[in-house]
Amino acid sequence: MRVLGIETSCDETGIAIVDAEAGLLAHRLYSQVDLHAVYGGVVPELASRDHIRRILPLLREVLDEAGVRGPELSAVAYTAGPGLLGALLTGASVARALAYGWGVPALAVHHLEGHLLAPLLDDGALDFPFLVLLVSGGHTQLIHARALGDYELLGESIDDAAGEAFDKTAKLLGLGYPGGPALSRLAETAASGDLRLPRPMLDRPGLDMSFSGLKTAVLTVVQKGQYAPEVIARAFEEAVTDTLVEKTRRALAASGAPVLVVAGGVAANRPLRAGLRAMAEAQGVPVFFPRPAFCTDNGAMIALAGLRRLQAGAVDPGLAIRARARWPLTELAES
Ligand code: KG4
Ligand code: ZN
Repeated sequence: MRVLGIETSCDETGIAIVDAEAGLLAHRLYSQVDLHAVYGGVVPELASRDHIRRILPLLREVLDEAGVRGPELSAVAYTAGPGLLGALLTGASVARALAYGWGVPALAVHHLEGHLLAPLLDDGALDFPFLVLLVSGGHTQLIHARALGDYELLGESIDDAAGEAFDKTAKLLGLGYPGGPALSRLAETAASGDLRLPRPMLDRPGLDMSFSGLKTAVLTVVQKGQYAPEVIARAFEEAVTDTLVEKTRRALAASGAPVLVVAGGVAANRPLRAGLRAMAEAQGVPVFFPRPAFCTDNGAMIALAGLRRLQAGAVDPGLAIRARARWPLTELAES
């Protein structure tokens, strides 16, 4: 079995082919970061139009590199949500049309299921059940993944997602968009400082998190002008890391999950990876991260999720083009 994956949920056009035996055959990614940077955030209409420009050239490259012809594919998987509706529709329409033309099934994939399966692209040893810490630009969730499609939400951010907090804080510090990686690079240049920012909701039981207060705390510190930007960046990163590590530790204990998976764009963050690794080791729990390039949005994780769905018996639901801007992961089994 061999599945083509198409990802267009936000500002990255990702195309890839994954083979059931040989693994990842080819993948391409085009990031629209430069297009949106001048606006300080993603402009949905520009994103949709740019996906239209990029999909087919990237697709040709991927087919060529994999040495696969369209009709030889087992399915075309596309991100059907959650995400920007217009962006989703471009990928979904192209996927549906290609599948129709090639006479193969089209499969609607949940973006977050793609993220949480991404470590499997490099490590076949991972198997259900596991606990997922999903930390992206739009989501911060602790999920008990019992089986493919069987996901229980244990806790989540009640306001900003972790990636969103990174991006907004980076903006406050005058860094570009998206600010997460830039903020992290800046933090690396700071000596361990005397600035300590609050660890939101750590003093309360439960697995929910909150990051908007942290952003406000940063704003206050920035306005006082007492600390250098790199010291603030480091203090912010430490506060986010401590919060996520502690909530994840509690979720492991509460769920009894034997394995930890960390996924989503913020999973590329080095101090967070180190903190989670140390905590998991202390708990005797193996931890899996996708390689950094597959933490952020990409087509490979969508191809893989499509492949897993196909192996589990998924069939083409017909000629409908599916796109949902909002789509809770917990509704996946029923969809
Ligand atoms: O998963 P993703 O590519 O897109 C969504 O589905 O949201 O995640 C993007 C987010 C952005 O907020 C970005 O700033 C953040 O991940 N990010 C990072 C790092 N790399 C990406 N945040 C902190 N440190 C990083 N190294
Ligand atoms: Zn994503």
